[in-house]
Formats: sequence, C-alpha cells, structure tokens
Amino acid sequence: MATADLKSHLKSRCEQVDSALESYLPAPDIRPQTIHEAMRYSVFAGGKRLRPILCMEAALACGGTAESALAPAASVECIHTYSLIHDDLPCMDDDDLRRGMPTSHVKYGEGIAVLAGDALLTVAFEILAGTALPTDGSYSAGDLVTELAVTSGSRHLVGGQVLDLEGEGQDVQLSLEELKYIHLSKTAALLTTSLRLGGMVADASAEQLQALTDFGTNLGLAFQIIDDILDVTQSTEKLGKSAGKDEATDKSTYPALFGLDQSREEAAKLTAAAHSALAPFGETGSCLADIADYLLDRDY
Ligand code: IPE
Ligand code: IPE
Ligand code: MG
Ligand code: MG
Ligand code: MG
Repeated sequence: MATADLKSHLKSRCEQVDSALESYLPAPDIRPQTIHEAMRYSVFAGGKRLRPILCMEAALACGGTAESALAPAASVECIHTYSLIHDDLPCMDDDDLRRGMPTSHVKYGEGIAVLAGDALLTVAFEILAGTALPTDGSYSAGDLVTELAVTSGSRHLVGGQVLDLEGEGQDVQLSLEELKYIHLSKTAALLTTSLRLGGMVADASAEQLQALTDFGTNLGLAFQIIDDILDVTQSTEKLGKSAGKDEATDKSTYPALFGLDQSREEAAKLTAAAHSALAPFGETGSCLADIADYLLDRDY
C-alpha cells in the first residue's frame, strides 16, 4: 500500500477504535465522575492506537473481519493506557507530558492517577470477556482472558517494568540479553497479544497464531528500540512526551548501549524478520507488513 493510503487506512481504523472505546468505557457522568473522567482523559488524549489496529488487522489476516475484533482491540488499548499512566508516575519515570497533554497525575493528582490506571486495567478484562466468538471455534472467552492476563502480569508487562526500573542509574550496566528481555517483556508481549487476540477472534489455526507471535515479537522489539531512538533524536513537541528522558535518568536503552546507528540497524533487521514471519499469510498479510515498515520509519 502506498504510504498515503496506509496513513488514511490507519486514520479510519483509529476512528473505529475510538468509537468502540467510547461505547465500552463507563460514561463520564457515572458516579464517581472523577475516575470516569480521568480514565477517558488519558484514553482520548491521542495515541497511535497501534495495538488495537494490529488486533483488527490480525483478525482480517486470519480470515475474519476487523470489526469482530473491536472488543479485544479496545481492551488492549485500555491495558496500554493504564501502563502509560503508571509509567509516568513520579515513582516510575516521573513524566509530566503524555500524548501532548499533562499526565494523569499532573491533572488529577497521584491518587486518582493510580486509580485511573487500576480501573483501566480491570475494565479491559470486562470488555474482553464480552467478546463475541464464533460458536464452533477453538477459543473460549476464558482463553482470551488468560492470554491478556498472562501478558499484562508479572511475567511480561509488569515484569518488564520492574527490570526497567532496576536497570536505571549510572551504576547498572545491563547486558544485551538483559535489555532484550526487558523490551520483549514491557513492550513486545502486549503487541504480540494484541495480534494473537485478533487471530483468536477469527479462529486462527495454530500455524497462523504462531506466525502472529513471531511477527509480534520482532515488531515489538523493533518498536521499543525505535521508541528509545526517538527519545534521543526527536523534540518533546513532536513526541508529545518529554524527550531526552532516558539519558537524564540513565535508563538502559539500545542507543545508550550501542549508539544510534547500530540501534537503527537492529530495528531494521528485526523489521525484516517480522516480514518473514508473515509468509504463511501470503497476500492477506500485506497490511501487517506495511504497518511494520511504517513503524520503522515513524518520527513519533
Ligand atoms: C509508548 O507506546 C510506550 C511504549 C511501549 C514504547 P506508543 O508509542 O504506542 O504510545 P501511544 O499509544 O501512541 O501514545
Ligand atoms: C514504556 O516504556 C513501556 C510501558 C509503559 C509498558 P517507556 O518508558 O520507554 O515509554 P515512554 O517513552 O514513557 O512512552
Ligand atoms: Mg518506562
Ligand atoms: Mg516512560
Ligand atoms: Mg520511551
């Protein structure tokens, strides 16, 4: 797909995701209003909606419809937004800008920010449990819930955030293996699960699910390397979050360990590996392949 066509495709997917989120999230006038406003504030602050889009495109690639994946798509965006709210807290990365807006704790205070994250984490499972699945398919709502729970928990996303925190500071030098493990856990796992949930809604075969897993693992690792590169090379205005933060806090990142050029090379290699993983899909995998290229070249 030409870049302009892909951009407009992604934009229309964003609109679908936003209207699903609008309908799944508790209304802002439900008591207590503060928490429902705070949840919506961070969810609707912007964001590329990458994870829900991958979920929808994976469903399509596996022979289903993108629309049938809207519930899992909304649920992974809730998990992602919760992880960002908590990632930005003063006790974590201590950031005051996210998606071009003041962070949740700056706007609502730390207590409400923690709770808005908690509430998004839990509503994600409520939304996911309500997914309509093919009646004669191989996957149950329980399978979907287990997939997301394992990925969001201490063995993956939360675990990666733990190691990210422990890897901070001048006196810590992580090995490549350790850094890769952090990136796989904190970022690649949720991208992979977003794809797999889309596949499950479309009753994917074991081979298709494995292909999505391999694609997501490589894409997710590349995605976090690019995120680390952009933190060095882009402005706060462009990113909508404070640039230069990783160096200021002595985070272990690819650019810090290997420099920008080697990091870029690694991201390109991983994107090529992501492409290869899509082979079983043939032409139906072309949109996922285009998204991988687009993410490699992104500037925010
Ligand atoms: C930022 O994710 C955090 C990482 C895991 C790198 P995104 O770059 O997808 O953030 P949004 O959703 O577009 O704000
Ligand atoms: C965030 O990684 C990963 C998660 C929130 C799970 P970063 O800390 O690099 O994300 P940004 O740069 O703040 O978006
Ligand atoms: Mg962080
Ligand atoms: Mg951060
Ligand atoms: Mg970052």
